[in-house]
Amino acid sequence: MKVLLVGNGGREHAIAKKIAESPVLTDFFSTPGNPGINTLAKVANTQNTPESIVDWAEKNSIDLIVCGPEIPLVAGLADAAADKGIPVFGPKKIGAMLEGSKIFSKKFMEKYNVPTAPFVVLEDYEAAVEYVKGHSQQYPMVIKADGLAAGKGVKIAADEKEALDTLHDYMIKETLGEAGKKVVIEEFMPGEEMSVFYLTDGKKFIRLIAAKDYKKVYDGDKGENTGGMGCYAPHQSLTKDVSDKIENLIMPGIKRGFAEEHFDYRGILYVGLMLTKDGPKVVEFNCRFGDPETQGIMPLIDEDVVTLFYQAACGNLEHEDIKWKNMFAASVVVASKGYPGSYEKGKEIFFETDMKDYIHAGTKESNGKIVTNGGRVLNAVATGNTKAEALKKAYELAAKATFDGCFYRKDIGS
Ligand code: AMP
Ligand code: GLY
Repeated sequence: MKVLLVGNGGREHAIAKKIAESPVLTDFFSTPGNPGINTLAKVANTQNTPESIVDWAEKNSIDLIVCGPEIPLVAGLADAAADKGIPVFGPKKIGAMLEGSKIFSKKFMEKYNVPTAPFVVLEDYEAAVEYVKGHSQQYPMVIKADGLAAGKGVKIAADEKEALDTLHDYMIKETLGEAGKKVVIEEFMPGEEMSVFYLTDGKKFIRLIAAKDYKKVYDGDKGENTGGMGCYAPHQSLTKDVSDKIENLIMPGIKRGFAEEHFDYRGILYVGLMLTKDGPKVVEFNCRFGDPETQGIMPLIDEDVVTLFYQAACGNLEHEDIKWKNMFAASVVVASKGYPGSYEKGKEIFFETDMKDYIHAGTKESNGKIVTNGGRVLNAVATGNTKAEALKKAYELAAKATFDGCFYRKDIGS
């Protein structure tokens, strides 16, 4: 099978490693790829648009497109490929809107009784300011930009000043562009987070192992939200009781909604949960695998992922369940100073071991050297028979790659 992988981050490198092991793989391409992915796949010379990717796939007789990130899916990659009869692992635009618009996803949850935080939608600045001024008892207050913002569109405001500043940034200064012109304001839910993933062909939903992502930039969950600074899997708070609640209270509404809205959703549904004292509640949906959760999940799958992805993409998932290695995995993100704010790129990375020992997230090759090219630069990933062993190995690896201004959280797994 000829596979084209779309994306250039750590998540895609982790997926690429698993695809490269597949016994049914005959040819493997990636676009745009990165120095890690490029050790496994040939670079497909496409532009970064659904049309260009699908065009290239058609000309090169690609059997399956696997899409890592959300942006191409929200832009309609799966729709464009469906017109040419090319299966895509990733939903069509309508399903991807569960991630592409917080307003869409919150309204979906409301309509189908999926437990989530109570919310209001505010489409203009004056109304949002009035709402904030009228709800002085509601802190911390969660303010979410409606559109895609690479994990930077959520502010947990501690007081009215922070809330008003956030509205001004999002809606007047447009610091997130179009994405922040409308907002959702919702109740803060205290609890532990859990990233749960379903592999689906639109009809059958197979739950993967859950992961714990560490979203805040600094140790002790301090500082700004990021895309994720590390993870471990499987999540140890996924008890039988939590699992039953997810399947009995959260999933029925989602499944009914998918059917009634005709999403024809083929790929991964990422259900971000908060384990509150009143049971699990949905924080967000994403239309793709998590990053960095995937870096922890992929090494534990004991299956051929190309077959799984292909079946899902064709709307015909034959598996009832997925086999897993009885191990733990941990991933530590090595980031650039300044992330998730502004940071410099182009710093040379020095590897004490082989650069292939790492999952590459924000790297590029420049004059024969590997240099930084993003906020989250590398993932140090390891597996072990215990969580402690996986973490110890991941941290040993994290310490062996350095660049000017590199840092990582020291408390992943705690
Ligand atoms: P989201 O993009 O909606 O997942 O939000 C990003 C992060 O903000 C989440 O992973 C949580 O850590 C935090 N967050 C979002 N909504 C809430 C909420 N209602 N209560 C508590 N934390 C939240
Ligand atoms: N790690 C969070 C996400 O992928 O959205």
